[in-house]
Amino acid sequence: MFRVPSLEEARVCVASDLAWQQCSRPACGAAYELRSVHQRCERCGALLDVAYDWERTPLPARLGLFDERRAAFRKPLDYSGVWRFRELLPFAELDKVLTVGEGQTQLRCSDGVAAYVGLKPGCLFLQYEGLNPSGSFKDNGMTAAFTHANMVGARYAACASTGNTSASLALFAGVSGLLKAIVFVGSGKIAYGKLSQALDYGAATLQIAGDFDDAMRQVQAVCRQTNLYLMNSLNPFRLEGQKAIMYRVLEGLGWEVPDWIVVPGGNLGNSSAFGKAFAELHHLGLIARIPRVAIINSTGADTLDRLVNGVGVRWNGGNVDDAAIEAFYGQMNAEKRKAHTIASAIEINRPVNLEKALRTLEVTKGVVRAVPDEAILDAKAMVGAHGFGCEPASAASVAGARLLREQGVIGPSDRVVCILTGHLLKDPDATVGYHAYDAEQFRQKFGSCGVAQARHANKPLPVADDIEEILRVIREL
Ligand code: F0G
Repeated sequence: MFRVPSLEEARVCVASDLAWQQCSRPACGAAYELRSVHQRCERCGALLDVAYDWERTPLPARLGLFDERRAAFRKPLDYSGVWRFRELLPFAELDKVLTVGEGQTQLRCSDGVAAYVGLKPGCLFLQYEGLNPSGSFKDNGMTAAFTHANMVGARYAACASTGNTSASLALFAGVSGLLKAIVFVGSGKIAYGKLSQALDYGAATLQIAGDFDDAMRQVQAVCRQTNLYLMNSLNPFRLEGQKAIMYRVLEGLGWEVPDWIVVPGGNLGNSSAFGKAFAELHHLGLIARIPRVAIINSTGADTLDRLVNGVGVRWNGGNVDDAAIEAFYGQMNAEKRKAHTIASAIEINRPVNLEKALRTLEVTKGVVRAVPDEAILDAKAMVGAHGFGCEPASAASVAGARLLREQGVIGPSDRVVCILTGHLLKDPDATVGYHAYDAEQFRQKFGSCGVAQARHANKPLPVADDIEEILRVIREL
């Protein structure tokens, strides 16, 4: 039977090494204390996971028992769409949890978008993470990383960002007052909605003269030399929080497992977290099968697609072909190839979670695809027209599902969940540009990303300040 551990019991669990940090490469397997801070494995340089002794952790007998918590909305831990699943990320000292009410998000069946994707009615679901307090899925991870930062007594935190991580970090720092946030963004590289959040929430905002990959390199170096706590998804505690997006998808489906999860791929934190969530649930006997995860790049930032579908790199039980990846990046440097996509959130050529995303592909029998920006913007307009607006990067999931349907990889009756990662208002420029610009402005804004036309544009109608004119225009609608 499901039993909620008391605060005291939970403290005992954590203190008695039920959770720790562990190298993600089984051949190394180095372990580190829960309350320590490491960017990567000190022994081999691979990414770290948060690991648990599940045998000794109190767990629900079935996932449906989590439903009870939804009624207890006045308790902050039960109200949170992350911490109400706390037994599935049992690293936190519960009195150190920092929550801003993240994860009040929705799973919606959309037959309109299903028709666009080529799926039967009732088969396509949108997981709308734009409803989070900072407007993107990042809050799921940030509450977990802030909780760990609180457990280790961090006073300063930093991240590199294409905009949403910085908005989320800034918001959590502002609400909690726990620490001072310093965000690194590529100059001119983030959408205005996101920049305005970082500034308004009071984060020190460093505009690095470079792109996200440059900012990411710098923030790692700075954190190694200082006591800044790194809040990027390299931080394994971020990914523990992001597992909850999958718990809520299952919850939205009445605890049934869908056939596909389709997710945009940028720094590959989400896809990494989703794979871990499903591997753990399956290991614990809480789900009977694992859904397939499709990770969607933009063709302007397609490192994972090229490495998996071109070079043929695989997780291979943890024996990743590092030399092939190094050679790929060497070639990228030689060609001075930079990421360039209208989906600025995923404008990333050196995803830090690459190897964990490869693990997700293995665990979930997943696939990778890259979709052009024109398809992303068209899909975004279709998502908007059916009631849930999203930012461009999010719509990569819908464009990717459509491509996989066309290719016959996804079947017409498969149950498919597309993750809408960020809110429409994050990047109004892209939306207004798509719907409203004249041909010349359109070419200037989108031409360099290979977008030639806006198939689903809903242009504003200019009308004289005259009632007869206004009525004439309305009659013609
Ligand atoms: N969608 C949105 C709206 C994002 O902001 C991001 C990443 C992604 C998708 C990709 O997710 O990195 O887990 O593969 N944004 C990061 C940022 C990089 O800095 O805000 P991922």
